[in-house]
Amino acid sequence: MPQIATLATPPAILRAEQLSKKVATADGQLVIVHHADFTVTPGEAVAIVGASGSGKSTLLGLLAGLDTPTEGKVYLGGEDLYALDEDGRARLRGRMVGFVFQSFQLLPSLTALENVMLPLELAGAADARARATAILDRVGLGARHKHYPKQLSGGEQQRVAIARAFVTEPKVLFADEPTGNLDANTGRSMIELLFELNREQGATLVLVTHDTALAGRCGRRLVIDAGVIQPESATEPVAAARIAGVAE
Ligand SMILES: Nc1ncnc2c1ncn2[C@@H]1O[C@H](COP(=O)(O)OP(=O)(O)OP(=O)(O)O)[C@@H](O)[C@H]1O
Ligand SMILES: [Mg+2]
Repeated sequence: MPQIATLATPPAILRAEQLSKKVATADGQLVIVHHADFTVTPGEAVAIVGASGSGKSTLLGLLAGLDTPTEGKVYLGGEDLYALDEDGRARLRGRMVGFVFQSFQLLPSLTALENVMLPLELAGAADARARATAILDRVGLGARHKHYPKQLSGGEQQRVAIARAFVTEPKVLFADEPTGNLDANTGRSMIELLFELNREQGATLVLVTHDTALAGRCGRRLVIDAGVIQPESATEPVAAARIAGVAE
């Protein structure tokens, strides 16, 4: 009976199916992500962890519809992301996704406030200025609205990028090293903000991080090693114990 199956299995907000990314290089083919296969349920907070160069940013871009896989599929909110054309993918992203890039990717010709207003304006929101102002205040940048990205420190740019990803109240927030450029105190307040979104709006969080405090707050960790996601049952207790400081 389909209704009973639906009740027993939480619907996936995000699903990767045999997802791979390969690129041709001068030395031959490089496999950056190899057959990633996992499901994320609504409201989950997932940390993607692994060494530098292991494929974390590439995986995140594939999951959010910003890159194209060589093989496999991504389902976002039940939609086959890469079966859509680019416009369709952009619409789905606009409706569901917030993304914080490792390199921020703020538009240099727009002020902090204008950068945060942009996704709301693209979505046709009437109250873009008020909402962008409120979220910039919330990330502690009340006095920096009129600054251009080059007039902001790295950590301030990171907070603008977080505000821009949050402002549309996304169903899934992807963030690549969201605390990478922040001091411990600012980092902690950004972590609180991420988990407020998770709690208050039921947003699903998919975070790439080297920050053990942030990874420790996530209910689930996916460990990626040379493009391969490690079996969760084998890695989870070890990673959890290490984060808790009780085992190495
Ligand atoms: N377009 C590309 N062409 C060739 N190699 C690439 C390309 N994109 C990524 N790579 C390589 O794939 C590997 C994974 O890159 P990725 O940026 O996903 O790593 P990462 O885990 O996010 O690392 P970091 O923690 O340093 O940010 C790296 O070795 C990188 O050099
Ligand atoms: Mg990266």
